[in-house]
This record gives sequence, C-alpha cells and structure tokens, in this order.
Amino acid sequence: MNVHDLPTPALVIDVDLLQHNLATMAVAHPGAALRPHVKAHKCTALAAAQHEQGHHSFTCATVAEVVGMAAAGLGSDLLLANEVLHPQRLAALAAVQDVALVTIAVDSPETVDAAAAAGLQHVLVDVNVGLPRCGCRPEEAGHIADLARGRGLTVRGVMGYEGHLMVMDDHDEQRVKVQQSVDRLLAAHADVGGDIVSAGGTGTYHLHDRVTEVQAGSYALMDTYYARIGTPFVQACYVLGTVISATPKFAVADVGLKAMGMDHGNPSLETLDGQGADVWFLSDEHVTFVPHAGVAAVGDHVHVVPAHIDPTMAMHDVTWLVRGHEVIDRWPIDLRGW
Ligand SMILES: Cc1ncc(COP(=O)(O)O)c(C=O)c1O
Repeated sequence: MNVHDLPTPALVIDVDLLQHNLATMAVAHPGAALRPHVKAHKCTALAAAQHEQGHHSFTCATVAEVVGMAAAGLGSDLLLANEVLHPQRLAALAAVQDVALVTIAVDSPETVDAAAAAGLQHVLVDVNVGLPRCGCRPEEAGHIADLARGRGLTVRGVMGYEGHLMVMDDHDEQRVKVQQSVDRLLAAHADVGGDIVSAGGTGTYHLHDRVTEVQAGSYALMDTYYARIGTPFVQACYVLGTVISATPKFAVADVGLKAMGMDHGNPSLETLDGQGADVWFLSDEHVTFVPHAGVAAVGDHVHVVPAHIDPTMAMHDVTWLVRGHEVIDRWPIDLRGW
C-alpha cells in the first residue's frame, strides 16, 4: 500500500528513522543500561524492536502496560515506575508474576502494604529528586525499604525521575542540577540497598554515568518539544492528514486535538513539498493552518508532527510503518488504558 492511500488521520512511523533512534541510544546506553519506557509508544511491537537492540528490561507507567508486555513475551524484567493502590489493579499485576518479573515502585507505608497484600514480590523505592510528583524524601527511603522487607518483599533498589530537568536552555545548569538529583538518589540508595539505581529520560540520558540504568522513552519516536534541545534523535513519527477545506487565507486538515497530544503546545505542520506552516489552532477534529509558501488545496496531504509524543500515541489504535512511500507494516497500539 502507498502511504497516501491510508485513511486519515493516520499515525505514521518512518521505520528507518525509528531504527536510527533505537541504534543511537543502544550505543549510548547498551543492554541493561537502558530500561526503555514503554509509555512513550504503548506498542509491544516497538518494544520488541527495542528488545532486538539488546534492552531486555522495560519501564512501564500503568498496570495495563505491564500486563500487555508480559502477554507479549517481553516480561523478563518489568518495572512499574508508578504507585498503585487499587487491589483489583494490583491483583492483575500479581497474576502475571508467573510469566514475568514484576517490580513496582513504592514511596509510602500505604503503597508497601498494598503491594504486599496483593501478593507482589518485588519493589523498588521511588525517591523524590526534585520533581513535585511521586517519591519519598531521600531520608525516608531506608525506612520504606525496611517496611517492605518486613513484609517479605524483595527490595531491588531505588528510582528517582528528574522530570523537571528534561528540557533546559542552560546546559551547564542542567548538568549541575542532574548531578544534584543523582546525589539525592545515591544517598537514598545507600540506605535502601539493592542492585538498581534507575533515573533519567530523553532530555538527560547523556548526563547519566552514576546510575545503573536510564528510563528514556521518547527518544524512539521523538517530538518537537524534545527536538528543540538538540539531540541525536530524529523525528520518526507524524500524523498524516488530508486538507478537507481551503480558502485563500487558510486551510483545514482532519487532524484535530483528538488525534494529537496538545499539552506541550501546537504541533508543527508540513505540506508534502516540505513547506512549513503557521498552525493557528486545533479543535476536536480539525487543524487550521496557513502554509509558509504556496497554497494548500483540498485533497492535499500534510504531516502533523506532535509536540508531545506520549499522549499522541495513546490516542490511536494503530500505527503504520513506512519506508519511503510504501506502507510495510501495521502495529497495534496495544498498551493503552490503565
Ligand atoms: C518515571 C519516568 N521515567 C522516565 C521518563 C522519561 O521519559 P522520556 O524519555 O519520554 O522523557 C518519564 C517520563 O515522563 C517518567 O515518568
């Protein structure tokens, strides 16, 4: 099939650009030094491509991601880097432990109790390294680990995600702040023990040499938010749209905010002759834009490039793999939901 025969909006991955990104990261953090975060793509076929690059342990954000990865035979070491309390969700996690090694993040006595009560076997202590989200204070981490061991849980180590430092214009300041966040994590690790010290993401992967593994995810497909900091990773994914209405002043394509994660701002838009465009706004099913040069005609195709890849992937059932104009595969986005 030709890419231009796809029904739009269509989530498209350029397979060679994806492979470039996967191979580039596998050189920087080979094998177990990278625990790819599957929340960035929610696709077991893409995780299998990361597995082929030598990464056999994965980071997940939801129970559905862990369960789906285990069902796909990719469960040799799955970290749920998130706190979960609901017994039904925890039971679903516990149920895959006979086919997968499952480790869940804990940061409080309550999350330790919930994991133990559900029959989970492995935990990792989540430490707040500066991002106001989950994670205990570094000085509490040893106590949380003791509580977990007291409940018969195996404590595998610590994680501390420095999400507030991913995109910074001042690279010297970023380097200093990331080292400070790692200091906090290593102080916690000294009290917790275990083999794992897990941190990092696409914006900081190059600054980590004191942790045992990096949790990057967006590097595989990229987005315009990360592109602005300058990485060796290239934009491998876009949503193909069709111009469905046009005036002399603006044009409208069928890629709205229900096909595009918008929390990092408007996407970029390119016409097929490589021209950029001013994106005016997105509504539910439409993007209104003005090409920088020329005009857009009804029936033209456009590439809409997301500012945030993770929520964009979560809005689609399927992604199409292309090489040039040829569609060579179709991957289900099969790790959606909770
Ligand atoms: C716990 C955790 N680890 C790592 C990441 C890094 O992901 P990315 O490489 O997409 O920035 C995230 C992203 O939000 C995260 O929540």
